Amino acid sequence: MLNEILNKSLETGDLTREEILRLLAITDPDEKSRLTETSNAVREKYCGAEVYLRGLIEFSDHCRRNCNYCGVRAGNTCAHRYRIPPDEIVKTAKGIAENTPIKTVVLQSGEDLWYTKDILADIIRRIKSETDLAVTLGVGEREYDEYKAWREAGADRFLLRHEAANRELYKSLHPDSDYDNRMNCLRQLRELGYQVGAGAMVGAPGQTLEHIADDIEFYKTFKPDMIGIGPFISHPDTPYKGAASGTAELTLNVVAVTRIVTRTALLPATTAIGSIDPMGREKALMAGADVMMPNYTPYEYRAMYEIYPDKKCFTEAVDHNLSDAIARIRSVGRVFKGGYGHARRLDK
Ligand code: 5AD
Repeated sequence: MLNEILNKSLETGDLTREEILRLLAITDPDEKSRLTETSNAVREKYCGAEVYLRGLIEFSDHCRRNCNYCGVRAGNTCAHRYRIPPDEIVKTAKGIAENTPIKTVVLQSGEDLWYTKDILADIIRRIKSETDLAVTLGVGEREYDEYKAWREAGADRFLLRHEAANRELYKSLHPDSDYDNRMNCLRQLRELGYQVGAGAMVGAPGQTLEHIADDIEFYKTFKPDMIGIGPFISHPDTPYKGAASGTAELTLNVVAVTRIVTRTALLPATTAIGSIDPMGREKALMAGADVMMPNYTPYEYRAMYEIYPDKKCFTEAVDHNLSDAIARIRSVGRVFKGGYGHARRLDK
C-alpha cells in the first residue's frame, strides 16, 4: 500500500485524500525515510539543487489582531513593541543588497496601520529604485487599494499564510479574524500579479490530521507560489500557554507531502522548525524544502519580535546568519547560487 502511494508520488502529485492522510500519519522510522526520499526526489526533479535565500526584516511587531497562538497579538501587554523608521528599513535593505549575495528582502510585520498605504509604498519604491532586490511583503490583511498601491510601487511577492483551510479551525485560532476575508485577500493578491505565499502551522491546538489534509488540498487547488510550514510553538503570554507544541516529525511529513502534491512550490525550511530541533532546517531541506530566510532585522529590535519563544536567530553578528545558512545548505549537499528564486510558474 505505502509502496504504491510512494511510486504514484514520483509520477504525479495527484494524491487522493486517503493517500494524503496515509502519508501524514507516518511515524515508523523506516516509512519516514521512504517518504522523505520520495519527496526529496520530487524536489530534485522539479526544483533542482539550488536553495534560495531571503533576507528577512521584521520591521514592526505592533499588531491589531488577537490570534490565539501569536506572541505579538494585540492583547499581549508583556510584548515590547517597536517600529523601525522607514529610513532605517530602506538602509537595512540596501545593506543586504550591497553586502550580501541575497536577492530578496522580506518586509514582515504585525498588522500595523502606522505604516499607511503611502508610507509603505514609499519604502518599497525606494528599495526598488536603489537596489536590485526582489521585494516580498508580509504585512497581513489590508485593503485592496493598499495591496494595489504596493504592487504598483514594485513589490514582487506577498506572504499571507492562510493559517487553516478548515473554517472551524480557522475560527478557533483567530477570535477576531474572518476566514472569508483572508481567502479573499489571497485571491486579490494573486489578481494583482503578486507571487503569493500561503501556509500554516503544524500542531496548533485543536488541529488534526484531517485539518492538515484540508491544508494540502487547498494547496492543490489554490496553487500558492510559496508555502510556509512550521511547527506551532507555545508562547507563555498567549491563550495557548502551556499547550503542547507541534513536533518536528509531523512538520517534516507535512513538508514532504506538500512537496509531493505541489511539485514546484517554493518551500522554506522555517526558522520555527530550526527552533524546536537544532537540525530541523537541514531535515526540512532533505524533505523537500528549497528556501531559507536568514534574519536581517537590526539587532537592537530582534529580541522584541517574539511570535514564539526562543526563536533561533540570535547569533552575535548579523552576518553570521548568512554564513550559517550557507553552511547548512552545503552540509546537505545542496547549492547556493544567489538566484532570485521567483515563482516557478514564471520560469517559462
Ligand atoms: N508558533 C509558530 N508559528 C507562529 N506564528 C505565529 N505565532 C506562532 C507560534 N506561536 C506563525 C504564523 C504567522 C507567521 C508569521 O508565524 O503562522 O503567519
